[in-house]
Amino acid sequence: MKLLILGGGGREHAIVWKLLQSSRATEIVCAPGNAGICAEAEARVRCVPVDLNSLDDIVRVAIEEQPDLTVVGPEQPLTLGVVDEFERRGWRIFGPSKVAARLESSKVFAKEFMQRHQIPTPKYAVCTSLQDVEDALPLFTAPIVVKADGLAAGKGVLIAASREEAQQISAEMLAGRTLAGAGSRLLLEEFVEGEELSLLCLSDGRQLAPLAAAQDYKRVGEGDTGANTGGMGAYSTDTLLEPEMREWVLAHIARPAIAGMAAEGAPFKGILYCGLMLTARGPLVLEFNARFGDPETQPLLMRLHSDLLDALEAVVDERIESLALEWTPEVALGVVMASGGYPGSFESGQPITGIEAAEATGAKVFQAGTALNNDNHSDSHIVTCGGRVLCVTALGADLEAAAAKAYSAVEKISFEHSYYRRDIGQ
Ligand code: GLY
Repeated sequence: MKLLILGGGGREHAIVWKLLQSSRATEIVCAPGNAGICAEAEARVRCVPVDLNSLDDIVRVAIEEQPDLTVVGPEQPLTLGVVDEFERRGWRIFGPSKVAARLESSKVFAKEFMQRHQIPTPKYAVCTSLQDVEDALPLFTAPIVVKADGLAAGKGVLIAASREEAQQISAEMLAGRTLAGAGSRLLLEEFVEGEELSLLCLSDGRQLAPLAAAQDYKRVGEGDTGANTGGMGAYSTDTLLEPEMREWVLAHIARPAIAGMAAEGAPFKGILYCGLMLTARGPLVLEFNARFGDPETQPLLMRLHSDLLDALEAVVDERIESLALEWTPEVALGVVMASGGYPGSFESGQPITGIEAAEATGAKVFQAGTALNNDNHSDSHIVTCGGRVLCVTALGADLEAAAAKAYSAVEKISFEHSYYRRDIGQ
């Protein structure tokens, strides 16, 4: 079977790596891919250029490549309606439709949906003007979360220490000075504390199959300090979510969400990512995403024994009830190595060394912001070309063992101004 994978981050590298373990995946084309994906088992994998912000360009690649199945990695093509367009043409594709992907692409839609279906979530107010913000602020005590309605690549959530700061952040978002159009409508949200974790579920629009639980480290600095990022590391272990709590989350959050989307005429097919906070008053939904998480997917797929292609096809063919996912009981942990300065400005083009030595320790180096520099044709080498560059991922008998293995692999890799958190898994 020929597969087309859309995306070029660490998540897509992990998806390609896992699909290569399926003997039925005879050819994999990744658009646009990255240097690490191109280097995987070269005979079966190719990378081709694409503009993921253009539906026409994605369709062009599909016409040229004629895949049997397309898998969408990032949120942007979902929001453009790539699934609707492919299905209209009779092409098989894994991911939710444009209206179903609103669970991620509009934070306001997601909140109002949760309210309609009694899905537990922190208290909120929708604001489209500064007057709305002023009227709503007395309902909240500091700190207050300010969330842009639209997609903002992990930068749309800010935590204000005071009502004054919430007003100032809101004014900048609404005026389009930060986040452009993504913040023309926003949410004020109650700040809640607890253990944050992600439960991703495969859904065929009617039923679901939960993956193992994972925890993501969203802040750039150690001890969960500094700016929000796409994620600086993640781990997955069965002990993150006890069976009783997991059943509660499925019964009160994931299943009502799938049933609610179907009832509203927008059945959700693909990955429903439930971003949760386990608070003293029970689990609350911080956000839904409509795709695999990055970097959660890297440790998750390392723990998955089952064939990923079988799982993706069960979703597309709407027969998820036949799916029994198997996981290794081991813990998997991934450390993101980023370009210094991320999530702000950073330099690209830095040569990366030590990837082979890192993988010789038994870890897997999933690549994200990397490119092959072959200016000098006799000596091509991998260089940085993004904020999050690598996700060094390892399995261990327990969290300490997985972290020790991942960090010992990280230490073998170097590039100018590299940065990583030293507390992933703590
Ligand atoms: N790691 C968070 C996300 O994928 O949105």
